[in-house]
Amino acid sequence: MHGQNLRLLGRREPEVYGTDTLDDVNARLAELATELGLELETFQSNHEGEILDFVEDASRRVDGFLINPGALTHTSIGLRDALLGVERPFVEVHLSNTHGREDFRRRSYLSGVAAGVVYGFGVESYLLGLRGLAARIGG
Ligand code: DQA
Repeated sequence: MHGQNLRLLGRREPEVYGTDTLDDVNARLAELATELGLELETFQSNHEGEILDFVEDASRRVDGFLINPGALTHTSIGLRDALLGVERPFVEVHLSNTHGREDFRRRSYLSGVAAGVVYGFGVESYLLGLRGLAARIGG
């Protein structure tokens, strides 16, 4: 699940987020999911309410979430509550090292209730996160 502004990957601050597009990231994830024997569904939205609805709907068919919430990481108590409410493990990932940037990026409303967090490795953060999630859900 990709949150706000992640559809801009590839042209968004490439010095921070790299040059891979969202399609590239999803293709890498799909490849790894196959290798791990997982079924993968991907979703991106810039709209907080849509993301909350997706979490609730998807929770009926998935065993866990891999999520880069974008800026919602630092603002959304609603997303934290949704993820807690659906009782599915989730792994939080970030392309950039959010602890080495502006102070406001150091706070995450999600990290404290995530199964794990990976940040700072670019696209590799997603892949490491998916491996962690697979181990957690028994994939
Ligand atoms: C991000 C980090 C967030 O602080 C930022 O708002 C993003 C991307 C990352 O992947 O590094 O949109 O989640």
